[in-house]
Amino acid sequence: MEEHYKLYLAHVKKGDDITERLTRIQCTRSTCQATEIANLKGDLTFVLSAVRNHEIYFDILAAQGAPPTGALLEAIRACFGSLENYLGDLRQTARTCRGWTWTVLDECTGRLWNLPSQQAATGPLWKARPLLALDLFEHAFFGDYGWRRLDYIDAMIAHLNFKPVEARYLGIEGTTMIGTEASPPQS
Ligand SMILES: [Fe+2]
Repeated sequence: MEEHYKLYLAHVKKGDDITERLTRIQCTRSTCQATEIANLKGDLTFVLSAVRNHEIYFDILAAQGAPPTGALLEAIRACFGSLENYLGDLRQTARTCRGWTWTVLDECTGRLWNLPSQQAATGPLWKARPLLALDLFEHAFFGDYGWRRLDYIDAMIAHLNFKPVEARYLGIEGTTMIGTEASPPQS
């Protein structure tokens, strides 16, 4: 987590740097640094997405996990049949994913899904609210687990803290770490 957090902070700094560089570009009707703007905006999309993905990922891992309760548990049971089925589906989704695995609330239907997204800047489903994120990129586990990817997935699931997941499900929590004095996650 300590090494991973350094990567997160590098994304935060790069996002700030890109934002600052964009403010210094002056375009007129006849002159425009189109290539530089396009590249910077593309990079900004990537780093801001990487920051937000990691904030949700750090948020749901804890030394002492906490199971889902209340309305979230009811939704999990309604969508997956049981908490065990949901966790099994989450594990299988993670096993077959090389990027990010998400639990999202489909705001078009109210359904919960476990879905993959292979790139940082492409969410798993349009109009879906991210509730939980698992980082499956090799940098997330290779230092501790080497090629034992399944052990990493099992460890994440054993340490899931559903309190912030419930808050996002209920729409009462927003993450605003970027640009602030963010401190490393507590384990
Ligand atoms: Fe990561």
